[in-house]
Amino acid sequence: MMARGLDANGAARVYILGRREKTLQSAASKAINGTIIPIVADVTSKDSLAAAAARISAESGHVDVVIANAGATSPGTYPPGSSPSNPPTIEALAEYMWSADISAFTNVAHVAVTGTYYTAAAFLPLLIKANSKANRSNPPIHPQIIATSSVASFNRTPAATLAYAAAKAGLNHLMKSLSTLLAPYGIRANVIAPGFYLSELATGAFKKIGIQGDGTQEGDFPYALVPAKRAGSEEDMVGVTLFLCGRSGAYVNGTIILSDGGRLGIQQGTY
Ligand SMILES: NC(=O)c1ccc[n+]([C@@H]2O[C@H](COP(=O)([O-])OP(=O)(O)OC[C@H]3O[C@@H](n4cnc5c(N)ncnc54)[C@H](OP(=O)(O)O)[C@@H]3O)[C@@H](O)[C@H]2O)c1
Repeated sequence: MMARGLDANGAARVYILGRREKTLQSAASKAINGTIIPIVADVTSKDSLAAAAARISAESGHVDVVIANAGATSPGTYPPGSSPSNPPTIEALAEYMWSADISAFTNVAHVAVTGTYYTAAAFLPLLIKANSKANRSNPPIHPQIIATSSVASFNRTPAATLAYAAAKAGLNHLMKSLSTLLAPYGIRANVIAPGFYLSELATGAFKKIGIQGDGTQEGDFPYALVPAKRAGSEEDMVGVTLFLCGRSGAYVNGTIILSDGGRLGIQQGTY
């Protein structure tokens, strides 16, 4: 959604990184202006990130925005057959928690937090070059790193998995720290925290609550899950992205923008 939105609204080049070439090519093929360029890369590999940054440096010389968007999910919170309204026994909960591999748990933070940290490190030299672009506007729109966190990072109701919520909360703080660390260099750091948006990663969650299609029509979701009674749409996500990347958001630094249709407002949260 973000890449298509940037392509449709004037970006010169939109590089998308991921491990699966076919998925990247499929996303690139939907760009109406043809500016989306796939690069096969793994954000948990320094070699892979360095190779991607070297290629982009050779082709573009700088980057205005880096979006650290990779995400992974984790072992579920509730054993099969149980839920917040039908809680498991403490023994069943302990057995279920113990059964997951440690690597499955840590991979979630590995992608969200470690991956974002090294993505930032790999692209800082290209971000700083955006500040010296000859045609920069006045006042300038400083380059930035945007990370995709989640409403789950604030949600104390364990609707998402515990590993996911903890990883995204860690990501929020990493980004706030980066905002402070990088401010003297004229590089910003901001966060988008989405609620329900249909995607490959979210398909399971949509199915579990019985949502057909992309859920973006008012009434598709019950108020008890999302006060807006629908999932986020492509326009919703592109709007937030363009705000942060463009003139309107140029004064925004160190912020977390929730785009959740009001979901957090009706859940126990720590926002
Ligand atoms: N959809 C929602 O409702 C929702 C809500 C809150 C937050 N989010 C967050 O939004 C972000 C985007 O997710 P999405 O919902 O759009 O799902 P998605 O389409 O499945 O996107 C997740 C992407 O992460 C990439 N990825 C995972 N591990 C990677 C790695 N090691 N290196 C490089 N890329 C990696 C995947 O590509 P490969 O597998 O090909 O590498 C995939 O393209 C995630 O951070 C997610 O946590 C989504």
